[in-house]
Amino acid sequence: MTTSAAPLHLSIATNSPSGRIPRELYGHCAEHLGRCIYEGIWVGEDSEIPNQRGLRTDVLNALKQLSIPVLRWPGGCFADEYHWRDGIGPRADRRAMINNHWGGVIDSNQFGTHEFMNLVEALGCDAYIAGNVGSGSVREMQEWVEYLTADVDSTLVQERRANGREAPWSVHYFGVGNENWACGGNMRPEYYADEYRRYQTYVRHHDPEHKIFRIACGPNQDDYRWTEVLMERAAEHMDGLSMHYYCLPTGDWQNKGAATNVDEADWIGMFVRAARMDELIAKHSAIMDRFDPKKRVALIVDEWGAWYDVEPGTNPRFLYQQNRLRDALIAAQHLHIFHHYRDRVRMANIAQTVNVLQAMILTDGPRMVCTPTYHVFEMLQVHQDATFLPIELSPIPEYIHADQSIPAVDASASQAGDGTVNLSLINFDPANGHDLKLQLPAEAFAARSISSRVLTADAMDAHNTFDAPARVVPTTGDPASITADGTLRFHLPAKSVALLSIS
Ligand code: AHR
Repeated sequence: MTTSAAPLHLSIATNSPSGRIPRELYGHCAEHLGRCIYEGIWVGEDSEIPNQRGLRTDVLNALKQLSIPVLRWPGGCFADEYHWRDGIGPRADRRAMINNHWGGVIDSNQFGTHEFMNLVEALGCDAYIAGNVGSGSVREMQEWVEYLTADVDSTLVQERRANGREAPWSVHYFGVGNENWACGGNMRPEYYADEYRRYQTYVRHHDPEHKIFRIACGPNQDDYRWTEVLMERAAEHMDGLSMHYYCLPTGDWQNKGAATNVDEADWIGMFVRAARMDELIAKHSAIMDRFDPKKRVALIVDEWGAWYDVEPGTNPRFLYQQNRLRDALIAAQHLHIFHHYRDRVRMANIAQTVNVLQAMILTDGPRMVCTPTYHVFEMLQVHQDATFLPIELSPIPEYIHADQSIPAVDASASQAGDGTVNLSLINFDPANGHDLKLQLPAEAFAARSISSRVLTADAMDAHNTFDAPARVVPTTGDPASITADGTLRFHLPAKSVALLSIS
């Protein structure tokens, strides 16, 4: 390991606060896919695995540490095959269905509306329910919202009460379909825009104190025409437009590339691909600006993350993949991008919470392990709802490998309600650390306490396993030093995510 010669100068404009970082940028997805819901979250009340009302206790406790703001469910592609009535009532009587999209396995519907809302309440987060447009009816969607949110003596509300829930739930976000350009019905944007207008008409919260935030299905990565058509034809009826972008090592869906045995070309390649999120948001936002210059409609990145070939020997439709140090840096990279675009991007949901794609947690029977991505979400949660502070970094070193290059260091800062300034840093360079010199502004010069946490490991390929769960975990960083003139110095190790807190 080496350290680059000249220190990097960083300044934080603590006197130029620039909006709030919505906590919803730290949202999650939990789909009926592989072992995310079943095994990962839901084990049932009779399981030997300790649980609270069927939700596994170890996973719940770990997720609570992340302050998850919002959870999207039941899909994903599953959403447009899901019929909510199959998932209510006595569990023994529930209809088993085929999960056609994800391997044709049987979904017992043991986890349904009540179980999801119990999960949301246990996590203290908002519900983001994705409704079925592709194979469901307007009436079905309308009645689901009534069942969830009404408090009158309608037959549906009486049914909810009979099923054990007296008070209505509060549902903050409702998605009108998912990927309706593909698994959600293979629709053209013109057709979906009309369908969206029709379905959303009936998505009404029954508590006059609440308004449901309606989210239209938006584009697949760089499908700018989809955004154009939706904004032109339906913007006035939506609060948010979703966008999905996953990064694959090869960019080829048939042969995505492995999560394991990361060499340096793979390592930098994924950061180059993740950086594309910036370009996609900028271009979709520019289109949205033409129709909605006041930015009333949010861009909701409700699926994002690293997508690799599945772990060898696992069901190819279960999307179970390992999660390495590289993924931790990718997660921080995305979160920084979302901070930057906070005026338009007001929610983002990593895919997915447990056992699927870029997961927080992996489980194996009664065992669980937190991934490097989990630790980034735990560290960076200090930015949730904090005030964004602009940063200047110079020079910005370039990290170059063969024919690929990216800025080696990335940073984002915010100020929490108690005045603490939090600075998160990423060093993509796997071989060179950087010394940072931060000139603290006068008002922060009286800083009494500086702490640092660092997430790194000995190898690019490092990851946590059930037998070695602490190979990639945050540690207290090198003590940051502060000189008499208010200069803070900090060593940012190679291949790391760090968090400096100055209070
Ligand atoms: O997150 C996995 C899948 O990716 C979702 O079901 C779908 O919406 C997307 O294609």
